[in-house]
Amino acid sequence: MNLDEIRKDFPLLRENPNLCYLDNAAMALKPDCVIQAVDSYYSKLGVNVHRGVYKLSYEATDLYEEARNKVAEFIHADFENIVFTRGASASLNLVAMSYGLTFLKEGDEIITSELEHHSSHMPWNAVAEKVKAKVIYIPLNAEGRITVEAFKSVLTDRTKVVALTYVSNVMGYVTPIKEIIRLAHEKQAIVSVDAAQAVPHMPIDVKDLDCDFLSFSGHKLCGPTGIGVLYGKKELLEKMPPIEYGGDMADTVRKDSMTFKDAPYKFEAGTPIIAGAIGLGAACAYLEKIGMDNIAKYEYMLKEEALKRLKEIPNVVVYNPSCETGIIAFNIKGVHPHDAASVFDKNDVCIRAGHHCAQLITNWLGVYGTIRASFYMYNTLEDVERFAESVKEASEFFDML
Ligand SMILES: Cc1ncc(COP(=O)(O)O)c(C=O)c1O
Repeated sequence: MNLDEIRKDFPLLRENPNLCYLDNAAMALKPDCVIQAVDSYYSKLGVNVHRGVYKLSYEATDLYEEARNKVAEFIHADFENIVFTRGASASLNLVAMSYGLTFLKEGDEIITSELEHHSSHMPWNAVAEKVKAKVIYIPLNAEGRITVEAFKSVLTDRTKVVALTYVSNVMGYVTPIKEIIRLAHEKQAIVSVDAAQAVPHMPIDVKDLDCDFLSFSGHKLCGPTGIGVLYGKKELLEKMPPIEYGGDMADTVRKDSMTFKDAPYKFEAGTPIIAGAIGLGAACAYLEKIGMDNIAKYEYMLKEEALKRLKEIPNVVVYNPSCETGIIAFNIKGVHPHDAASVFDKNDVCIRAGHHCAQLITNWLGVYGTIRASFYMYNTLEDVERFAESVKEASEFFDML
C-alpha cells in the first residue's frame, strides 16, 4: 500500500490537508475514479437503461450491468445474486418485508442481537409483530460480543431466521458468522448478514460464508450515496415476491394478472440507480487494487496505535479494547459525547458521537452514547496523533470545569 499515492486519489484530502477524517464507519470519502465514473456516465451518456432501443441506451445498460458484475466479483458472487438497492437499510428491509412476511408464521423464532444497527433488527421486529413470530436476542458476553456458544443457547427447531451484523458499527467486533451460518443451516434457518461495516474493510466471500443474504451500502466503501447491494442466494430470490412494483421489473401485465422478470430485476422497480451503480463498480475496482487484506491490516494497525495513545490519557474509558477492526468506541469520564465532539470539531478532527443508530448496544453499555473513531486506508499515523491530542484536550478541558 502506497499511502501517499492513495491520499492523492481523494480530492477532499488533497484540498484539505489539515482534515483528520475519522468518521469512516458513517461514510467513506470518494476517490477521483468514482467521481469520474459518475461524471462520465452523466456527461457522456445520461440516458436510461434496459429500455432504449438506441446506441446510447445500450451503452448505459452495458455500464450498469458491468457494475453488477464487478460488485458480484468483489464479494465472490454471480451477477444474478446482486440486487441494487438504495443502501444497506433498503437491502435489510427487502429481506424482512419479502422473505419474512411471506415465509414466517406465528410461533417462528427470529434470532438477532443487541449489537445490531437499527436497520438490521428493526425490520424483523416489525415483521414479528405482523406475523406473531418471536424475536430472540443472543446474550452478549462480558465484552459485548456475539459468541458461537451464546448463539447455540438460543438456536432451536423454531428458529427460522438469523439476522446478524458481521461487524458492529459501534464496537467493531467481528461476529463468528461462518460458524453461526453453518449451525443455523443445520436447523434449516436462513441467515441475513448485515455487512455494511464488513464489506468496506475486509475480504468477503459469500460462497465461503454460505450466507443466504448479505447487505451493504456503497457510500461506506468509497462509492456514491444512494446505492446499496443485496446479495441473495438464487433459489431464495426466485421464490421471494417483490416489495415494489412498476417499470422495468414487470414481464407481462394484464388487467387481472401480472408476472415479473427473474431476480435480480424483479426487485429493481423503476429507473434504477444507474450512476450510483456505475460509481460503486468503480469503487470496488479501486479497493480491489489496493487489496482488502492490506486495508484490514492497515486499519487495525492504526487503531492499535491510537489505543496505545488513549491508554496514556486520564479519564478515557474504551469499551472495545480487544476489537479486531479499525473502530474505537470510548468516552471521557463525566463528559457527554456531544460536548467532547465539539473539541474534536474545533481541531478539524471528524469523529461521531451518540448512539450510532444502535441504541440497544448503547443501553447495554449503560451510557447515553459513545464517541467513535473509525479508520480507513487513507488515514495516517499523524491522524492518530491529532486524534489523541484532541482526546487529551477534551479530557483536560472538562477536568477543569
Ligand atoms: C452496521 C450497519 N448496518 C446498516 C447500516 C445502514 O446503512 P445505510 O444508512 O447506508 O442504509 C449502517 C450505517 O451506518 C451500519 O453501520
